[in-house]
This record gives sequence, C-alpha cells and structure tokens, in this order.
Amino acid sequence: MKTRGAIIRKAPGTYETVDLELDAPRQGEIRVRMVATGMCHSDDHFATGDMVPAVYPWLGGHEGGGVVEAVGPHTPGWEVGDHIVTSFLPSCGQCRWCAAGMQNLCDLGATLLMGGRFDDLGSYRVHLDDGSPVGQMCGLGTFAERTVISTQSAVKVPKDVPLEKICLLGCAVGTGWGSSVNAGQVAAGDVVMVMGVGGVGINAVQGARHAGADHVIAVDPVEFKREKALELGATRAFADVDEAIEYGRSLTDGQGCDVAVVTVGRTTGEHIGRGFAAIRKAGTLVCTGIGDMTEVGIPAPITELVTYQKRIQGTHFGSCSPMGDIPRQIQMYRDGRLKLDELITKEYSLDQVASAYEDMHNGTIIRGVVRFD
Ligand SMILES: NC(=O)c1ccc[n+]([C@@H]2O[C@H](COP(=O)([O-])OP(=O)(O)OC[C@H]3O[C@@H](n4cnc5c(N)ncnc54)[C@H](O)[C@@H]3O)[C@@H](O)[C@H]2O)c1
Ligand SMILES: [Zn+2]
Ligand SMILES: [Zn+2]
Repeated sequence: MKTRGAIIRKAPGTYETVDLELDAPRQGEIRVRMVATGMCHSDDHFATGDMVPAVYPWLGGHEGGGVVEAVGPHTPGWEVGDHIVTSFLPSCGQCRWCAAGMQNLCDLGATLLMGGRFDDLGSYRVHLDDGSPVGQMCGLGTFAERTVISTQSAVKVPKDVPLEKICLLGCAVGTGWGSSVNAGQVAAGDVVMVMGVGGVGINAVQGARHAGADHVIAVDPVEFKREKALELGATRAFADVDEAIEYGRSLTDGQGCDVAVVTVGRTTGEHIGRGFAAIRKAGTLVCTGIGDMTEVGIPAPITELVTYQKRIQGTHFGSCSPMGDIPRQIQMYRDGRLKLDELITKEYSLDQVASAYEDMHNGTIIRGVVRFD
C-alpha cells in the first residue's frame, strides 16, 4: 500500500517527506497507523552523519505511538485496533539478556542500523516507488503515516491513555528516567548533576527527583531549557558546567556529586570528562548521550578513576526493560508522578520534520512531536 514518510537520502542531509510503498506484514509483524511520534536527537545524528546507517534512503523515527491496522499471518496475541508504543530497542524474549531481565541489551540490538528485518536483514518492508529498499530506523521508521514493524518492538498499551503523549515512552522517557534510577542508582538524599536538558535529560531530572535526590543540578547553555528543568524538579540550573561542578562540591563538603548524567545532544569525550570531574569518590558517571560514532577516548585521569574508585556507567534506554517498564511508566503518568504533557513544547505535521530539527538545534523545544491526522 501507499504511505508517506520522512527520509534522508544521504548524510549530511535533510529529512524530506516522500511517497513510500509499504509491504503487508508477515508472520510476527504488524502494520501500525501512527498517531504521533517524538523527534529524538538520535534521528538527527543520521542527518548530520554522526551515525551512519547501512542503507539509504533511511526512514527516521523510533519514538512512536499508534494503532494496529493489520496483523501478519500466524501472529498470535495481536488484534486490529490494539494500541502500541514502539520500543526503539526490540526484545526477543529468549536471548541471554532478555532472559536475565535486561531487554535493553537484547541481541537483536545489533541489527538496529541495518534497516531490514531483524531476522532477515536483506528483507525490507518499505520501498520507494521504483522498488528500491528504504531502511527503517531501529526496524521502525515512525516518521511515516503507516509502518510495518516486528511485534518484538511493540509494547501493547491501554486504549485510554493518549498516544500523542505516551509516544515519548518509546525512547526519551525511559532513557532519561532510567539513566538516573537504573544506571545511576540515585538514592534518597543524593546530589545529582544532569548535563544537557533536552527530551532525554529532562527525564533524567524527573528520575533523579523521583528516586529521592535532594539536589538536582541541571546544566544547559540554553535559558529555556534551564527554566524547564527547574519547573520539572531541578533545584538549581547553570549554563556553565564548571560552575555546576563547583556548586555540587559546595553542597558536599568539597567531595562532589553522587551521580552525574551526561545527556548532551551531541556528546563528546570532553563532555564525559566534565561529568567525570563532577562526581565524588565512588560516585557514578552515567553516559547516555551519543555523538560521532567513531570517536574514541575520554579525557579522564586514570589515577583518579583508580584511586577515587569512580564508576563510569554507559546506558542504553536507561537500562530499562521496555515490556515491563513502559506499562509501569504509564501508571506513573496516570498517577501524576511522571510528567509527559509538559515535555512536549510543540506539535508538527509530517511535512515539518526538518523544521522541527531546526527548532531542536535552536534550543526552542524540549521535545517536538509529529501528529498524524
Ligand atoms: N543511550 C541511549 O539509549 C539514548 C537514547 C536516546 C537518545 N540518546 C542520545 O541522548 C542525547 C540527548 O538526546 P535528546 O533527544 O535529549 O537531545 P536534545 O537535543 O533534545 O537535548 C540535548 C541538550 O543538550 C544541551 N547541550 C548542548 N551542549 C551542551 C553542553 N556543552 N552542556 C550542557 N548541555 C548541552 C542542548 O542545549 C540540549 O538542551 C543524544 O545524543 C541522543 O542521541 C541516547
Ligand atoms: Zn531516541
Ligand atoms: Zn533478546
């Protein structure tokens, strides 16, 4: 069938909305009519060339909410009309990591930049009019009116929660919230620094407060982001990271923050190095943001790492298990403990994906969301 979606043809490049040909779902797959999708910085990394997919054109988007329109043959457990949130990380339920409650590390993750089906990488469900294949970001491609995805990437959600808000649970929320709660293990009374308050970082702020931190120090060069951080749980906000580090020390008798979370839009080794400087002995530095995928090295003194027993903790999707954590986050949203509506600064049409990313670069939005009609 015909659909429309926002693709990039090369990097550096710009998202453009084009007509696409969508195949029918096969076994283990569903066709989803997208209702809304968040616009994560990770999709921008493909436009800038910081991250490189295996195939162009590349259909962006991985933070979606939608309604199941068709179910592949012999695919039990799914019905037309089911509401879903996409999980940017699929889970097979059977590999060592899924079995151990670490769905975010599922072995299927190795295929996310390939664009084809997880179990058959040369097989594509999206094509241009001329029949050439279109890669789907994370096997999803939520920047499209309709897409075909594996059920391994879909989390069924209750029908009474607004998909145009809970779409953010597909990436930003779990990634940020879990960076503080799971990866950072933030505890009651902690002093936490969050560096970079975009769609992900704002959720790290929420997660840190939720976990009981007494002080959440937000760092962002953009004033609007700092204001938002203060609104959603940060206790102080700084434009300059070194001032934030000093403030963290002033609260802890000179020792430093218990946890620092780095969620800068285009994270470099330098940013991670500042996070490392911010934490106390035996403190935890959580690295969530990504940038140039070929960059190697963190400027951090090895002696300090060893003798101060500091911990550097990477995290993918905030170390959440999407099938369990997304339903839990929906309950927290219903309870008013997790704010989602407040994170969406602006809604866009599918034709406006490129201009939404301009807004992201200009610092005028926390999260932009595409609303489909
Ligand atoms: N690890 C994961 O699983 C995962 C998942 C999703 C996104 N990400 C990555 O997380 C990062 C953040 O994503 P996002 O969607 O929130 O991006 P975003 O662009 O919405 O937010 C990034 C923020 O960083 C701020 N910033 C820029 N330079 C800074 C600096 N020097 N110090 C402090 N703040 C600075 C920006 O002003 C912006 O507010 C991206 O690199 C993204 O690719 C990682
Ligand atoms: Zn994302
Ligand atoms: Zn698995």
